[in-house]
Amino acid sequence: MPELIVNVDHIATLREARKAREPDPVHAASLAELGGAGGIIVHLREDRRHIKDRDVNLLRDTVQTELHLEMAATEEMHKIAQELNPEMVCLVPEKRQELTTEGGMDLLGRELEIYDFLKPFQERNIKTSLFIDASPEQIEAAYNCATEYIELHTGHYADARDHVTKRQERQKILDGITQARELNLEVNLGHGLDYKNILPFSKISGIREYSIGHSIVARAALVGMERAVRDMSEIIRAFPENE
Ligand code: PXP
Repeated sequence: MPELIVNVDHIATLREARKAREPDPVHAASLAELGGAGGIIVHLREDRRHIKDRDVNLLRDTVQTELHLEMAATEEMHKIAQELNPEMVCLVPEKRQELTTEGGMDLLGRELEIYDFLKPFQERNIKTSLFIDASPEQIEAAYNCATEYIELHTGHYADARDHVTKRQERQKILDGITQARELNLEVNLGHGLDYKNILPFSKISGIREYSIGHSIVARAALVGMERAVRDMSEIIRAFPENE
């Protein structure tokens, strides 16, 4: 069964809308775990627009499942992640003006740099993942970076408005999963997934984790965090076992 990894960034977004003390992503993470999350992920952005250093440090002490850290491939983040010691680091591209991560990393020509960046984590048994688009070139490049995991970007699939584009985008992801598994890369999926658009993946094996934030936090605002996570984890629990 794949794991549900819950992204609590948007709880911090709500807190920062008022520059207040609540809601606290640390509390949300505990409730997400009670609701069945297999892990908690946060993106510590360079500009600290939502998640702060205080959050990641408290989460490190309180998360009972796994703590995953999403971050840009910068020196500063490398140092923070080494000190934090999360169970997984996931590298993402970061632009200051974007509303959310807009696409996968472009790894072409950066394989050696990323290889060197990841190695110290792997030496300490911290799992590494690269967030990329489901393109054959990027998947090949991720393999050459010697990462253990990739996270395929599902945002284009989620955003597609007509059936034809949706089917095409879904097929790219399925082909990407096949290619990655042939290369022995572990595959996670994330971005834009919700309670409905995740269902077409229900028969696909070989997916380790689903990284989901917005749709869960949106539902949590109405029904509560624990229930919103439980609703999603029950969907994913019915998905096929990994080999
Ligand atoms: N995966 C990555 C790499 C992300 O950057 C994000 C958004 O922070 C997510 C997954 C979760 O996306 P969403 O909030 O749309 O579920």
